[in-house]
Amino acid sequence: MERTLIIIKPDAFQKGATGKIIDRFIEEGFRILAMKLFRFSKEQAEKFYIVHKDRPFYSELVEFMTSGPVVACVLEGENAIKRVRDIIGPTDSEEARRVAPSSIRALFGTDKGKNAIHASDSKESADYEIPFIFSRLELVE
Ligand code: CMP
Repeated sequence: MERTLIIIKPDAFQKGATGKIIDRFIEEGFRILAMKLFRFSKEQAEKFYIVHKDRPFYSELVEFMTSGPVVACVLEGENAIKRVRDIIGPTDSEEARRVAPSSIRALFGTDKGKNAIHASDSKESADYEIPFIFSRLELVE
């Protein structure tokens, strides 16, 4: 069993897509171990996305992620990191609509920045991101 973190981003939350997105993961057989609605401070978003700090889109990304509430969940399942990445689709929602039309980013995202959902991209990322958002007590064992 593997664990991964998803964050329903401000654009998808604002659109009212949270329930549909969570339903999709339940239908795909994942177990929800934790869930939280919150709004990132600038400092928190900068730290969460620290691996991207030298990318040209870093400040835009931080600004977007702090623009409204988000919903984070820890999901558990076999091969969860890769399977969740497949279900969310490519980073760019426009590309997602071409190559993976039933993916979450195709259905609910707009472009490369406003792309509806984040998911851990590796075991290393999940190990950083899950305890960043959730304490051990908040995870259902
Ligand atoms: P996410 O999976 O949350 O991880 C990093 C994020 O950076 C990514 O989704 C995108 O939202 C964002 N991102 C990647 N490339 C670009 C880009 N060219 N312009 C704006 N944002 C980007």
